[in-house]
Amino acid sequence: MTKPLNIGMIGYGFMGRAHSNAYAKVNHFFDLPMRPVLKAACGRDQAKVRAFADRWSYESVETDWRKLVERPDIDCVDICVPNNLHKEIALACAANKKMVLCEKPLAMNGAEGREMVEAVEKAGVANMVWYNYRRVPAVTLAKQLIDEGKLGRIFHYRAKFLQDWTINPELPQGGTALWRLDVAAAGSGVSGDLLAHCIDTALWLNGDLVSVTALTETFVKERKHNLTGKVEKVGIDDACIFFGRFANGSLANFESTRYARGHKALYTFEINGEHASIFWDLHDLHRLQYFDHRDGGLTRGWRSVHVTDGEHPYMANWWVPGLQIGYEHSFVHQVADFIKGVASGNLAQPTFRDAQRTGLVLDAVLASAKTGQPVDVVRD
Ligand SMILES: NC(=O)c1ccc[n+]([C@@H]2O[C@H](COP(=O)([O-])OP(=O)(O)OC[C@H]3O[C@@H](n4cnc5c(N)ncnc54)[C@H](O)[C@@H]3O)[C@@H](O)[C@H]2O)c1
Repeated sequence: MTKPLNIGMIGYGFMGRAHSNAYAKVNHFFDLPMRPVLKAACGRDQAKVRAFADRWSYESVETDWRKLVERPDIDCVDICVPNNLHKEIALACAANKKMVLCEKPLAMNGAEGREMVEAVEKAGVANMVWYNYRRVPAVTLAKQLIDEGKLGRIFHYRAKFLQDWTINPELPQGGTALWRLDVAAAGSGVSGDLLAHCIDTALWLNGDLVSVTALTETFVKERKHNLTGKVEKVGIDDACIFFGRFANGSLANFESTRYARGHKALYTFEINGEHASIFWDLHDLHRLQYFDHRDGGLTRGWRSVHVTDGEHPYMANWWVPGLQIGYEHSFVHQVADFIKGVASGNLAQPTFRDAQRTGLVLDAVLASAKTGQPVDVVRD
């Protein structure tokens, strides 16, 4: 018997859409003991949230997230709002014994994240953070290859996340769509927005980061603020570069920026091990580049693995070998794994506790950027 899992969605922007799509599709492709039911959508603007609810077939709407969290017919709350709201909503979910799915980054900083971890664990509610790139099949395959020891000892982990959409100094900060430029809503700039993804993947694939040395820059120092109408100081980092050391002895080299003209969402990582290397690129997300030094010399070279075979992670649930899937499917996989975790009692990762590790690396990165000195990553 498939049980209903009543979803309360808070936020109807980019992620509200990506997650709603995943809830709608997941049971068509995965055999699961629960079926998400789109019970209620919440946003501050009644007309807009109504239009969203109609388009995605939510049964009802709320304009105050507190009401949604308190509703007895909601099992699971999905937090798809700017970062400064994550903590308050997550704590309310814990108080109301609701399962909670939270968008990344978990919190504005490690201190907030700690409170959130404690609250959901004390309440005993299922929880997860949407670091969705773990569930791109090629990235999951990278994890399998590393865990099988194919790369041997790891020497280097290199990651970049490059965009170019904030170069225009006339772009305002704050309010709808531009909250990412407002430090009060976002907490940080490219570090919490983009590097957070790179760090989560890295910790998952390569283990803990122990220390980091960082450099940040804010290229446009003042922008008009949409909420006040005044020109105000920009508090976010526009670019962030850091290097560091992992617990396994490998070296970290990370970069993210919104000032790389020509790049829209160029998330790449490369891992160099003693026997083999792996490279992945979000713009070509269904491929994993793999080089194995143990291959015969004459034909040794980089292999471009088209990750679409039935034996590849998640792919048996989709089409036939050779036909690729894309960005949206990473969210479908995450919902499928969340439901399996709830049913088995073995929660899917990353839980709030897992995601807190990324928050603590971000704290260390931003602290190091202030002084230019290396900073050890705190472990909770
Ligand atoms: N996993 C990913 O790859 C990924 C990608 C993009 C964004 N995110 C994260 O998702 C979250 C949302 O980002 P987004 O891109 O969807 O933003 P968005 O601007 O597209 O949408 C934000 C939504 O929050 C709503 N909102 C704001 N304040 C609210 C309030 N007080 N009550 C109810 N609703 C409110 C807005 O009306 C809007 O619907 C952020 O934490 C962001 O970091 C994650």
